[in-house]
Amino acid sequence: MRIDVLTIFPQMFTSPFADSIVGKARQRGIVDLRLHDIRDATRDRHRVVDDAPYGGGSGMVMKIEPLVAALEAVRDEQPGSGPLVYMSPQGERLEQERLKALAREPLLTILCGHYEGVDERFVEHFVDLELSIGDYVTTGGEIPAMVLIDALVRLLPGVVGKRDSVVQDSFYGRLLDYPHYTRPQGFRGYAVPEVLLSGNHAAIERWRRKEALRKTRRRRPELLAQAPLSEEDQGLLAELEAEEAQREIPLRQ
Ligand SMILES: C[S@@+](CC[C@H](N)C(=O)[O-])C[C@H]1O[C@@H](n2cnc3c(N)ncnc32)[C@H](O)[C@@H]1O
Repeated sequence: MRIDVLTIFPQMFTSPFADSIVGKARQRGIVDLRLHDIRDATRDRHRVVDDAPYGGGSGMVMKIEPLVAALEAVRDEQPGSGPLVYMSPQGERLEQERLKALAREPLLTILCGHYEGVDERFVEHFVDLELSIGDYVTTGGEIPAMVLIDALVRLLPGVVGKRDSVVQDSFYGRLLDYPHYTRPQGFRGYAVPEVLLSGNHAAIERWRRKEALRKTRRRRPELLAQAPLSEEDQGLLAELEAEEAQREIPLRQ
């Protein structure tokens, strides 16, 4: 997959994507990440990318001409044309289903905004999709773009060694992940659940599924309502309900 990023701070991406899983995916050619400085597309001596808003008021707005010039330079270089995503707090909330769809695209261009945002004409006529990382405002689109790229790259085949760990992750199958434990077996009297030490793989799988259902039911019931549940899951949920009902019986009337 090729990802082109339009930004006024390309150097911000260097360290986060030099190491770890994304760094390795780049080295192995699974993802081709290209950073483009929007200022390189300006024509004036001062490389200006922003101007005061029409109608007055505070803040600056990213100008349409350098954005279009930067986008067209990328399109001229690309072997085809993928969607242009603008990172924006006003966009669709980024979720796993959208990431799965984007991971199927061979090409993707991401625009990072700054100041008060970009000239709305650019959004209307050139942007295919606006994506938000949540209902809060960051100073620029670089960190949101990094969130998008990181979450996207781990879905690409061959990036994460064991496919299972991606599929088991929270949200992939709509449920939250089950709890994880590692050595030591005991720490300050805190034990690891017995079943995980039993070597009984079927029992471990059942326990993990039940705990994933328990966590999702407690923390994110709206996810559970959309999750594809098997008959076995329904049975596990019935067990959880019975366990909870049991706990609710008061000791004394
Ligand atoms: C200071 S923000 C502009 C916010 C804009 N005035 C608004 O209230 O909608 C500057 C840039 O940061 C990025 N940004 C801020 N919050 C974001 C979020 N939650 N998700 C994605 N991008 C965000 C966008 O690229 C935006 O153009």
